Order: sequence, then C-alpha cells, then structure tokens
Amino acid sequence: TQAPPASFTVIPNRHPASEEERWLAMENPVFGKVFTDHMARATWRDGEGWVDRRIVALAPLPLHPGAAVLHYAQQGFEGLKAYRHEDGSIWLFRPEANAARLAATCRRMALPEVSEEDFLGALEGIVSADRNWVPGTPGASLYLRPFIIATEPSLLVQPANEADFLVTASPVGAYLSTAGDGVSIWVSRGFHRANPGGTGEAKTAGNYAASMLPQREAKEHGCQQVLFLDAREDTYVEELGGMNLIAVRADGSVVTPRLGGTILPGITRDSILMLLRDEGRTVEERDIALAEILEGLESGEIVELFACGTAAVVTPIARLVSDDFDVAVPPREGESVADAVLTRLTDLQYGRAEDPHGWMRKV
Ligand code: PLP
Ligand code: COI
Repeated sequence: TQAPPASFTVIPNRHPASEEERWLAMENPVFGKVFTDHMARATWRDGEGWVDRRIVALAPLPLHPGAAVLHYAQQGFEGLKAYRHEDGSIWLFRPEANAARLAATCRRMALPEVSEEDFLGALEGIVSADRNWVPGTPGASLYLRPFIIATEPSLLVQPANEADFLVTASPVGAYLSTAGDGVSIWVSRGFHRANPGGTGEAKTAGNYAASMLPQREAKEHGCQQVLFLDAREDTYVEELGGMNLIAVRADGSVVTPRLGGTILPGITRDSILMLLRDEGRTVEERDIALAEILEGLESGEIVELFACGTAAVVTPIARLVSDDFDVAVPPREGESVADAVLTRLTDLQYGRAEDPHGWMRKV
C-alpha cells in the first residue's frame, strides 16, 4: 500500500492565457517552447525538508547569482507525458518509474530526494490546474518536465542545503520530424557522453551540456541526432543524445545496449522491451559493437534500427553517418517492428488498447 500523492496548494494564475491564445499556442507547438499557465513547486529547507508545496502561475524564478545550480550544475530532471483519451480523461504513463529514476538521480547528484508522493502530487496538481492545455489531437500530448535545482548561494563545491523542485508543462507534438524513412544519425567519434563511474545513468543537465557540441556537429553533417560510443573502448554503441537505441535482426530478435551505468535507463526502452517479450520475441540486452551494426546492415543480419524515448516515442533510423562511413538502413517491406511497437505503445497510452501491465495512471 502506497502513500497517496502529496497535496499541492493551488494559487491560480490570475492572468491565464485566453482561449484563443491557448489554441494558437497549441497549434503545432515547437517541442518545449510553449508552456502552460502554471508550474508546480516545492522548496527544500535544511532541517525542515520539503515545504511550501504549491501550484502557482508560471513565472521567472528569482535565483541568487551564486545559486549552486548555475555554477556546478547540481540538478536533476525528468520527462514524461499526459495523454488525453477519447472520453476526455487524462492519463500519465508510468509516472512511478519516473519518480524512482528522479530519486536515483537525486542520490547521484547529492540532492535531497523527491519522494514518490511528492512527485505524483506535483504532477497531478499541475495537470489538474492545466487540464485544458492537454491536447486532444492525434500524436500530441502534454509534456511534463519535473526538475530539481540546487538554489543555495554558495561557490563552495559541496552539496547544497537548499533546493527547489518544480514541474512545468508543455503541449507537444513530435520531437523529431521523420520525413521519409527515418532520421539520419551522426556517430560521434571524438566525443563521448558518459564514462564509467560518471553520471551517464543519471538524468542531469551536465550530460546534455556535454552533448551540445556533438549535436551541432551532427547538424552540420545533415543529421538530427548523435549516437555515442562507450568512452572506455570507443567501440560499443551506447545511446543517442536524448534517446535509447534498439536494433532488429533478420530473425525477428531484438538487441539493445545493456544498462551498465553509462546510459540512461529509458522508461520507453523498458516498456518496449516488455511489449516485445510479451509477443514472444527474443530480446537481448548486451554490449553491441558499432562494427557489428555496420556489418549487420551490410550483410542483412540487421534489418532495423530505431530510437526511443518519451519525447521521440519511436523514431526509425534511416542512415548512420560518420567521418569514415555513410550507411543506409534499407527500407523494410511491410510493417516494421518499429511501426508495430509504436502502434502498440501509443494505442495503450491513448487508451485505444488495454493496458495489461497497469502502466496508465488517471489524473
Ligand atoms: N536517453 C537519454 C539520454 C534521454 O535523455 C532520454 C529521454 O528521457 C532517453 C534515453 C529515453 O528515456 P525515456 O524513455 O525514459 O524518456
Ligand atoms: C525526454 O524524452 O523526455 C527527454 O528528456 C529527451 C530530450 C531530448 C527532450
């Protein structure tokens, strides 16, 4: 028996967007550029713990210029979505898994932990306050961004004693545009995302800061995302800047990099692997050399590659590019595994199919 979600006091935005402004903002929003009327917030005070749980108007944060997050990136974040079902009801997908991952990130970043009750309470509070911002159009959803920041003004490199936990909400459509058969991926050779003992499995700002330059390099080579190799041997594929990677073999089995501390344990990844295992497919989680993928694509042993994540959902990969290769993933005849699993997952998320694992939580 779990504790119920914490209660967040609602102080409504006195100047919410008009209905017309909201409709305009929700029409084809650029991912993460449109925000709803409210945010959830709680404050950590040394000796008191989490206090002042509240839903307030979205507004800039007054932060001391010495706040630890601004200097040393002591921070953690999450990403999940609220989906509107046909009957108008609103549902979260596996929010308990995001709560557990944020708690793990907090431990790694020496931040106070956000409990599951506070995490769920903040989500339910903001989604309830901004219900009319949850899109009802196909493929669209309300992207929720919980995050925790160290606010203590201190330039000492030591764990801060003051923090804020916030959640913002953004109506979103697709993260990556997949014109044609899928996205092109740049395989970064000079840069790594994470190293053993580092913060790769935590969802924390620094990992993304370090990916900006390789991401720019990807763009300059006509690619939408970067694929990182492991830092120790520069041999094994790990993940993309903001998505996990899954490969499908000619025999129908599926293979994906194992969770070894250097990649983010994606909740979409975990869900897809479960759905594929439910279908009776063989799923392997292990080290995969880049060479195995390139040779597999060439020989026909590997027939599909796709990226997965909350923002990207399931995005087929059409091409792998680097300084020394440019390999196309041949288009599949008939329905691909990526298409099938995208339908399976989104049918469940949008309430068009049953939810055998009890993943959906009604707001
Ligand atoms: N890998 C990275 C680096 C990410 O930022 C994300 C997105 O959150 C993922 C993988 C996918 O994780 P999830 O499926 O939980 O969104
Ligand atoms: C998410 O999918 O939630 C992420 O945080 C990834 C980011 C690229 C938007």
